[in-house]
Amino acid sequence: MLVLGIESSCDETAAAVVADGRIVRSNVVATQNALHLPYRGVVPEIAARAHLTSMIPVIDSALRSASVALEDVDGIAVTNTPGLIGALLIGITAAKTLSWALEKPLVAVNHLHAHIYSCALSREAPIFPCVSLVVSGGHTSIYFSRDELTHELMGATQDDAAGEAFDKVAAILNLGYPGGPAIDKAAKQGHAEAVRFPRTRLGPRSLDFSFSGIKTAVLYHCCGKKGREECLLSPEETADVAAGFQEAVVDVLVEKTMAAVRLRRAHRLAVGGGVARNSRLREKLTVASRQAGVELILPEPVYCIDNGAMVAGLGYHALKQGRTAGPELDAVPRQLDSRSPYKRKGAG
Ligand code: KG4
Ligand code: ZN
Repeated sequence: MLVLGIESSCDETAAAVVADGRIVRSNVVATQNALHLPYRGVVPEIAARAHLTSMIPVIDSALRSASVALEDVDGIAVTNTPGLIGALLIGITAAKTLSWALEKPLVAVNHLHAHIYSCALSREAPIFPCVSLVVSGGHTSIYFSRDELTHELMGATQDDAAGEAFDKVAAILNLGYPGGPAIDKAAKQGHAEAVRFPRTRLGPRSLDFSFSGIKTAVLYHCCGKKGREECLLSPEETADVAAGFQEAVVDVLVEKTMAAVRLRRAHRLAVGGGVARNSRLREKLTVASRQAGVELILPEPVYCIDNGAMVAGLGYHALKQGRTAGPELDAVPRQLDSRSPYKRKGAG
């Protein structure tokens, strides 16, 4: 079964053709990084307008590189939540139009669940049930994932997402946008123990996150509490701050994720989202999982950032279960997850 996946929730226009939920026939991503670079963050209006111009060429290119004609597609999957409303609407409108014109079924996909599903792409062995960590520019969440479409929220960020913190700290350090890859690279030249930043735990048993404090700590460290305009650190000091910041964020991510694994006595851990590309996070999760006797499943780096393959892959399972959507399908900007009881019992 061939599914065309369409993704436009933030600043990547993406489309892919995936066979049977697993075999990626094509995966085309048009990134908008250059457009948002001057603003050091995503500008929603610019993102929506860029999706509008890129959407059809990206879909065309995904079909061509898969050598698939539109008529041969068995279904169309599209991200409808969460994300920027204007950006989501472009993908949803394209998907609805194709579904209507071709008389092919339409399925709606949750972007965060698709990030988890990216671990299943090009993989034979099952990934569910598992504890899953989604670390992206907009979200930081831990789930217990029973199957492709059933995810219980165990913990989430109460303010900034991990990727957002990477982007904002990179802006303070003048490392450019997107900040995650730049900090990852700079940190390799620095010493993580040179500057120690706070690890925010929100109580001994909480599985929630908070990354706004560390961002302020970096700002004070670099610009002083009076808030000088410019960060005046040398390249060596910048590398040390990048390494110290990354270490603190990674420590908290790994600690809480492994606590969730222990709580659910999980045998597998799946990680998805742009920050899952981070080399230090991958390293520390690998060590922690080995120590805990848990199978760590990391997506290929190309499937960590926003892409259409994860949408098509998850869409296949929704389609198989008959969870189709109609022309009334709308964008839902906020994540509407219900919490599992595990967090409440242990909340500190
Ligand atoms: O999943 P994604 O492509 O978009 C959202 O759904 O938000 O994630 C983008 C985020 C950005 O904040 C970016 O800085 C971060 O992923 N990122 C990284 C790395 N590569 C991308 N963060 C840390 N280290 C990286 N190597
Ligand atoms: Zn994403």
